[in-house]
Amino acid sequence: MNLNKKSLIAYLIAKGISIPHYCYHSSLSIAGNCRVCLIELEKATKPVVSCATHANIINQTQNKIYHDSPLVKKSRENILEFLLLNHPLDCPICDQGGDCDLQDQSLFFGFTKRRFYKFKRIVQDKELGPIVKTVMTRCIHCTRCVRFAKEIAGTEDFGMFGRGSVSEIGTYITKVLVSELSGNVVDLCPVGFFTTKTY
Ligand code: SF4
Ligand code: FES
Repeated sequence: MNLNKKSLIAYLIAKGISIPHYCYHSSLSIAGNCRVCLIELEKATKPVVSCATHANIINQTQNKIYHDSPLVKKSRENILEFLLLNHPLDCPICDQGGDCDLQDQSLFFGFTKRRFYKFKRIVQDKELGPIVKTVMTRCIHCTRCVRFAKEIAGTEDFGMFGRGSVSEIGTYITKVLVSELSGNVVDLCPVGFFTTKTY
C-alpha cells in the first residue's frame, strides 16, 4: 500500500479497522476538528488525530499504533461528552435517527456521563432554499458541508461564523443554497443538521 498519499485514518480504514470520524471524508480536504478519530502512537506523548496525521509516520518513526487502547477509548469518550454538551438528545424525533454517526458512537460507548448542566446552545434555524431544511442546534461544527460546497460543488455559499460557543454555520450575505448539488449535504452531514425539506 502506498502510504505517501494517505492519512493515517485512511490507512487504518483500508486495513479494516474501524475508526470513528465526523469531520473526515475521503473526498474532502482534512479539517481535523471533531477530534474523535484519536489514536495512540507509541512514541507520541498524547493521543493524535489520525485524519490529520500522515500514514508515513509508521515508516519514518517505526511507531506502533494503538487504536483500541484504554487511553484511546477514554479520549474518544471525553470528545463525545464534549460534542454532546450542545447536541440535543432528540434522536427519537430526528430524521437522521438510526443513520447518525454521533448516535452510533454514543450507543457504542454507552454514554451516560455528563459534567455540564448549565445550558444547551440554541441557534435559530436558517432558511437555506427549497431543498434543505436546517436544525441548527444539531450541528457539531465538523465543516463537511462547508468543504463540500467549496471543493466539490464549487459554490462558496456558506461557512463557519463566530468562535467558541457562538460558532455557527451560515450563508454569506444571507444567501440560500442554489447549487443543484446542495441536496448532497443532507447525506454528507454526520448528524441531523440538514434534512430534506421535500421529505
Ligand atoms: S451542518 Fe452537519 S456537515 Fe455541516 S458542520 Fe454541522 S455537523 Fe458538519
Ligand atoms: S475525523 Fe479526525 S478530527 Fe475529525
